[in-house]
Amino acid sequence: LDIIFIAVNTPTKTYGEGKGMTADLTYVEKCARQIAKIAKTKKIVVEKSTLPVRTAESIKKIFKSSESQINHEVLSNPEFLAEGTAINDLFKSDRVLIGGDSTESGKRAVETLVSIYKNWIPEDKIVTTNVWSAELSKLVSNAFLAQRISSINSISALAEVTGADIAEISNAVGKDTRIGNKFLNSSVGFGGSCFQKDILNLVYLSKIYGLNEVADYWEKVISINDYQKNRFASMIKKKMFNTVNQKKIVMFGWAFKKDTNDSRESAAIYIADMLLEEGAQILVCDPKVSLNKIKDDLLFLWEHRNEINMENKLKNISKSNELNYDIYQEADAITVVTEWDVFKNLNYSKIYNKMNKPAFIFDGRKILNQDELIKIGFDCFEIGKSSNNNNN
Ligand code: UGA
Repeated sequence: LDIIFIAVNTPTKTYGEGKGMTADLTYVEKCARQIAKIAKTKKIVVEKSTLPVRTAESIKKIFKSSESQINHEVLSNPEFLAEGTAINDLFKSDRVLIGGDSTESGKRAVETLVSIYKNWIPEDKIVTTNVWSAELSKLVSNAFLAQRISSINSISALAEVTGADIAEISNAVGKDTRIGNKFLNSSVGFGGSCFQKDILNLVYLSKIYGLNEVADYWEKVISINDYQKNRFASMIKKKMFNTVNQKKIVMFGWAFKKDTNDSRESAAIYIADMLLEEGAQILVCDPKVSLNKIKDDLLFLWEHRNEINMENKLKNISKSNELNYDIYQEADAITVVTEWDVFKNLNYSKIYNKMNKPAFIFDGRKILNQDELIKIGFDCFEIGKSSNNNNN
């Protein structure tokens, strides 16, 4: 065995003092110590998971100061796979990034790893850099993707008040090949375990080096994301005559995006939290996320805030299947927070007939056909769009 991959989950502190700091590097350290103890010959050790910049340096130190004193080569080979499309991404990667030392043995280690990837990745897509550039590039890639979403989401607010349509803007802007059309879908805000964590990591790193303007710049990407989630929840309340108290809201989706059961940092958690706080009764439909997970997500948020009313609020959240049309009986609103395909083809006339009137639909993912829904009789609101129907 010549190559050892280290892939561990190192959660980042997303709340409070020291926000952005990697909460637990113990496992990486443990892996490094284990390798130092067991390996009798020189190995190539590859950092695979997203780790704070300069982790490779700590790993090297552990090797150097170990009993065997073997200077194993440390490479950084960050992961760019996305959930739900990981296997496809693996075979059709835009690029593979490998960072290593510029010493002779460092270069040899890089070449060894390159030769493995060359089996299925064209050589011009394999990028080699120094270790720190590779580590930092991973954070920057996620920060740029998140920044695009925050940029388009910030404009969605402007589109709603000016009569523009954010989908048309995304399309027009994205046609410029210098800008490109990916990651320009306006939404209720990005979620997932990576974007916020990696930006916070970037912010923390910038602050450590006294680069406060840089830190502030990237922190704004997160502020806009929080703003979008708040804005969506406030909009729901406003349209429903300024109160959601005791109103039944069917929430379509809990996962942070479709085709995954992952709900980490999902916008749904924050939107549900705000509506529950206002006394709403929420019924969630999500093909993959369980009610227990939904409750755990809310409890995690509330415990952090030392809330006292947790059990009472939890009573107001339940889960069902979107195909069980009985659930829409006396519902006041439907709100789309995850873009699952299954929500597109429901029998909305049947749903409308069962709901209280006016029957509201708030589409935070722009997946439903607004014209058809308006024809049925729904009061529609779509993120980033100001239709006549939106202007009440
Ligand atoms: C992201 C990156 O896309 C991967 O390249 C990276 O490897 C991964 O993080 C990671 O660091 O592990 P992932 O978190 O699986 O992947 O999900 P994305 O597809 O990037 O979506 C993130 C969030 O942005 C989702 O909530 C999604 O709904 C939202 N989004 C995405 C938008 O709101 N609008 C868009 O146009 C695109």
